[in-house]
Amino acid sequence: MNEKLNLILSNAKSDIAAATSVKELNDVKVKYQGKNGEVTKLMQGMRDIPKEDRPAFGKLVNDLRTAIDECYDAREVELKDLELQQTFLNEAVDVTLPSKKREVGSLHPLTLVKNELIDAFIGMGFEIFEGPEIEEDYYNFKMLNIPEDHPARDMQDTFYVNENILLRTQTSAGQVRVMLDKKPPIKILSPGKVYRSDDDASHSPMFHQMEGLVVDKNITLCDLKGTLDEFCKIMFGKDAKTRLRPSYFPFTEPSVEVDVSCSECHGKGCKLCKGTGWIEILGAGIVNKKVLEGCGIDSEVYSGYAFGMGIERIAILKYKIPDIRLFFENDVRFLKQFK
Ligand code: DAH
Repeated sequence: MNEKLNLILSNAKSDIAAATSVKELNDVKVKYQGKNGEVTKLMQGMRDIPKEDRPAFGKLVNDLRTAIDECYDAREVELKDLELQQTFLNEAVDVTLPSKKREVGSLHPLTLVKNELIDAFIGMGFEIFEGPEIEEDYYNFKMLNIPEDHPARDMQDTFYVNENILLRTQTSAGQVRVMLDKKPPIKILSPGKVYRSDDDASHSPMFHQMEGLVVDKNITLCDLKGTLDEFCKIMFGKDAKTRLRPSYFPFTEPSVEVDVSCSECHGKGCKLCKGTGWIEILGAGIVNKKVLEGCGIDSEVYSGYAFGMGIERIAILKYKIPDIRLFFENDVRFLKQFK
């Protein structure tokens, strides 16, 4: 009998040693100690053994079971450890690999130009005022000397919320808000979005303007010219020259169109300036007395100048952009050129 037990023990030991995974080890356990396992069968054979030998036999089988369990437990610890090592190897991360580069964004070209414009005018003592984009007809037209039947309304057709409320067509609407709210001296710069029902390569239904307004005693067209000369030098380089041409806006009298000398051909005439040597950049003028009086400012004591420019237009000139729609398509290939 002893021999049989020893054989079972040595077989079990070699089976346990041969198991290469916890699962295989479990199968070995079933082989010896499962329902039909060899050790289980020994116990079941107890009834064929003479009564007086049963305690000794029982002890031998128990010792055998304990010996197998010990081997089993030791191998289980080994195998679990090996499996863990393997998992570590499989899931290892090479921390020396180069990382994936994150693209760093950049400011939109219109924001870049807007910031440059703001810097130029802040340097000359202007303060920022931002009016609402959803505006009343009263501020956008009526108080700017553009009554309901005025033909200038045609050129600035826009999107109406109702009869009196619209998406502003010009940042000039902010001038009225400032003058009603503040007494001179006034020196403000007003950037923002404006809207018109236009849509082609050089017009967008939404675009940006930058408005300037100065009201004080003894303000003349010379102050306007001096300020815009300085601005053009900052924006387009030291050689930039400006000229004023007579024009018409209902809210300024006299009104002018301001041209800057062409930075491409320096006045000789080229495709960019359509052969004239000059490029129109903004509208301006001396604030119409009617507008001042409407805002409660005594036009015998005070006078002012105002100007308004399209930010897209300045950006198009500066970066030679062929189509205004490129600004609003959000194509990263276009946008990342301005980093
Ligand atoms: N608001 C005008 C436009 O959108 C531009 C303009 C012209 C603004 C003359 C002014 C100005 O302040 O004085 O076409």
